[in-house]
Amino acid sequence: MNTRILFVKRPVGWVDESCFAIEQGPEPVAGPQDVLVQALYLSTDPYLRGRMNDGPSYAPGFTLGQPVVSRVVGRVIASNNTGFAVGDYVWGFLDWAERVVAPRGEGLHKIDPSLGPVSLAISALGMPGLTAWVGMMELGKPAPGDTVFISSAAGTVGQLAGQFAKRAGARVVGSAGADHKVAYVLEKCGFDAAFNYKEHDTGEALRELCPRGVDVYFDNVGGTTLEAALGHANVGARFPVCGMISAYNLTEDRGIRNLQMLLSKRITMTGFIVGDHVHKLPAYQARVAPWFARGETVFAEDIVPGIERAPATLIGMFNGEAIGKRLVQVAEDSGR
Ligand SMILES: NC(=O)c1ccc[n+]([C@@H]2O[C@H](COP(=O)([O-])OP(=O)(O)OC[C@H]3O[C@@H](n4cnc5c(N)ncnc54)[C@H](OP(=O)(O)O)[C@@H]3O)[C@@H](O)[C@H]2O)c1
Repeated sequence: MNTRILFVKRPVGWVDESCFAIEQGPEPVAGPQDVLVQALYLSTDPYLRGRMNDGPSYAPGFTLGQPVVSRVVGRVIASNNTGFAVGDYVWGFLDWAERVVAPRGEGLHKIDPSLGPVSLAISALGMPGLTAWVGMMELGKPAPGDTVFISSAAGTVGQLAGQFAKRAGARVVGSAGADHKVAYVLEKCGFDAAFNYKEHDTGEALRELCPRGVDVYFDNVGGTTLEAALGHANVGARFPVCGMISAYNLTEDRGIRNLQMLLSKRITMTGFIVGDHVHKLPAYQARVAPWFARGETVFAEDIVPGIERAPATLIGMFNGEAIGKRLVQVAEDSGR
């Protein structure tokens, strides 16, 4: 039997496990031109919360009664398509299922296992990594002498954005929701300073840790963290707006109180979606894969085994359980 995770209820406020159902279905069969994929890793991402709503989002909403869909790494186990061979590692936007058919192989991308563990294709060497690159390097434009502040600093995007800014010569300060996350970004990622925003007031921490103000704020969380960053911005600061996870599970829009700082400090605040930059992925991979191989850039994955634990793993990501990329391991494979 083929285990699948269905989306069965739209959450109001915080997503919980009642929004999902585990289903045992028949084994899928590849038709003409189709590719059958054994899932290895499912990605849990903050933006999946937006896809659970009924309203508009930048990604298509989930259909009730249908499987959850996210980025998945898998291995081809049957192919009627000349573009894919049995044994190929691939990633694509696929159903949360042990095995899934990709009709005509559309939407599947081959993974080069020589670049690193295949799971990196949906984390540090994939779209989340490109998110950090585009947001930090193209919009944040950190330079030597700049102070860069990053929220969710121990997360998937945050830890990479911080290391990219360090390579560019900036001073990097991060916030995270647990002491062991603060220790991780200081000791492993080379951040210059970091604080636990659950234990310290963000405004006070920025006053202490960014005495020359903030030149780049890489926003992953929005809310009161963004308000504090606005309050400590220097003239001409850049604010790449990557995400606002603090609002994703709220039922009311709480607003941002001190947006007048945009004017007085001439701040450039730019929202971006990585999907608009997908053509840059090969160049990004070619640039950064050697950094990972040489150990100059580090990346943490938090891999939870068992497809039946996927809903709890996704919810735990929102609760801040993980350092780095939260993946669900569906099957053992030697691609690591
Ligand atoms: N623009 C794009 O194209 C794009 C692409 C990918 C991701 N994103 C966005 O980038 C952000 C980070 O994504 P990611 O995949 O790297 O996730 P992540 O940071 O690996 O994981 C989410 C983290 O968010 C933190 N968090 C949860 N609730 C919070 C709150 N109320 N206040 C502050 N922090 C909170 C938690 O860490 P703590 O323990 O530190 O609280 C949690 O571990 C998200 O907002 C996401 O939507 C945008």
